[in-house]
Amino acid sequence: MEKSEWEIAWSNFLSVGVAEMDEEHRQFIARVNELNQAILESEDKATVTRAMELMLAEAAHHFAHEEELLARWQYPGAAAHSAGHAQLMLQFERMMKEFEQADISFVWALKGLRIKQLLVEHLLKEDMKYRDFLRKQGSPG
Ligand SMILES: [Fe+2]
Ligand SMILES: [Fe+2]
Repeated sequence: MEKSEWEIAWSNFLSVGVAEMDEEHRQFIARVNELNQAILESEDKATVTRAMELMLAEAAHHFAHEEELLARWQYPGAAAHSAGHAQLMLQFERMMKEFEQADISFVWALKGLRIKQLLVEHLLKEDMKYRDFLRKQGSPG
C-alpha cells in the first residue's frame, strides 16, 4: 500500500469557516496521519498504542470544544451532533481495545483506515452542516 493512500491532506473544501475549528481539524488530521504512519511502518505495539491514545485524547478535546461552540451558536442540530461524537468515541475506544488484543499489523492497518474514514465522514457530513448553518446566519461565532 502506498503511503499516499493513507494520508489525508488538508484542503479548503474541509474548512468549516471557523478558524479555531479548522485549526483543530487540521491538528486532528495530523494525528491520524501520524497514527497511520506508525501502523504503516509496523512500529511496535507500544508506539502504535501511544499514537492511538494521543489521537483519542485530541478527539475528546476537539469534540468537547466543538459542542461548546455549537451550544453558543444555538445550533439546532447540537444534540444530534453531540450524540454523533459520543458514538465515534465509543467506536474508537472499542477499536483501541481490539488494537491491544491484536498482534498482526494487518489488523492495525484496517483499523487505522477505518478511523480515518469515520473521521473524514463525520467532518464532511456532520461538521459541514454547522458550516452551512453559520453561513445562513451571516457570520460565524
Ligand atoms: Fe463534529
Ligand atoms: Fe469537528
